[in-house]
Amino acid sequence: EATPEELAFQARIDRDEKIEPKEWMPEGYRKTLIRQIGQHAHSEIVGQLPEGNWITRAPTLERKAILLAKVQDEAGHGLYLYSAAETLGVSRDELLEKLHSGEMKYSSIFNYPTLTWADMGAVGWLVDGAAIMNQVPLQRTSYGPYSRAMIRICKEESFHQRQGYHIMMKMARGTPEQKEMAQDALNRFWFPSLMMFGPSDKDSVHSEKSMAWKIKINTNDELRQRFVNETVPQAEFLGLTVPDPELAWNEEKQGYDFSEPDWAEFFDVIKGNGPCNRERLATRKDAWDEGAWFRDGLTAHAEKSAKRRAA
Ligand code: 3HC
Repeated sequence: EATPEELAFQARIDRDEKIEPKEWMPEGYRKTLIRQIGQHAHSEIVGQLPEGNWITRAPTLERKAILLAKVQDEAGHGLYLYSAAETLGVSRDELLEKLHSGEMKYSSIFNYPTLTWADMGAVGWLVDGAAIMNQVPLQRTSYGPYSRAMIRICKEESFHQRQGYHIMMKMARGTPEQKEMAQDALNRFWFPSLMMFGPSDKDSVHSEKSMAWKIKINTNDELRQRFVNETVPQAEFLGLTVPDPELAWNEEKQGYDFSEPDWAEFFDVIKGNGPCNRERLATRKDAWDEGAWFRDGLTAHAEKSAKRRAA
């Protein structure tokens, strides 16, 4: 039986009002937001690793500068999102502790290896393309700080996707070996990119509640379908083949029919058994440990300044 506060809260959500940090919210709303925003932030931070792998190996100085700018953007996205999560009463240290312990997740896609330079194209084009599909609607999410973080982040995502697609164009129109590398990258990143949108709606444990609270604006399957509809013509323009024999335009539904991703693989990856899970977490834990002296220095400085101000 809903309490009067819960009814009043839902009426605010239904009127598309933004909920701000100091206003009353159901505990479940707060918990869901901490879970989703925290994992979104973790995705941005861990997401730097696959691309970071290629900054020193970029084929030209220009490509190195572009990739460096993109990876730095992702770090900034992570910080916006950790700040949005902190407004809900959770500390960044707590969120990072839960990432390192495996209690909190990050996007499955970052557990796949980036083996060739063409992967930098496929990641920008497909992974950031999928992230845009998922983040643009989130600009309208009901929680104020999350919505505002999304508006800022979306402004930078289109550059991320365009630079990736440009790499794919150069390689698809390059030597036969380069075109083959681009096709190989598409083959390896296509289905993992579809998995980014989450399990199918029938298996999504949070969707119903998250949609009622307008934390989630569209369902997982809706966004996945939208992504396929937009991306297949882009692959055709590159002269590359989407690695799905079932892919076919369905005139009636005005969208593509396509094969389901391998959900056993998906659940295995998010359980921690993907190709790179252990390596990604180890890298993050090492970064945390190696940065301890810097955090201690900042804290000591903050305490000294506070004492001076108080004196
Ligand atoms: N990777 C890892 N875990 C996933 C996942 C994925 N791709 N998709 C779903 N899951 C997890 C959910 O977190 C949930 O587990 P939990 O209870 O431990 O959190 C479980 O699978 C069930 O899935 P649900 O569909 O019920 O969960 P949600 O309602 O939370 O939907 C979501 C999943 C669509 C990812 C949603 O959380 C969301 O929209 N999150 C915000 C967007 C986000 O995190 N995007 C990451 C993209 S990568 C990125 O942003 C970096 C970019 O710059 C490249």
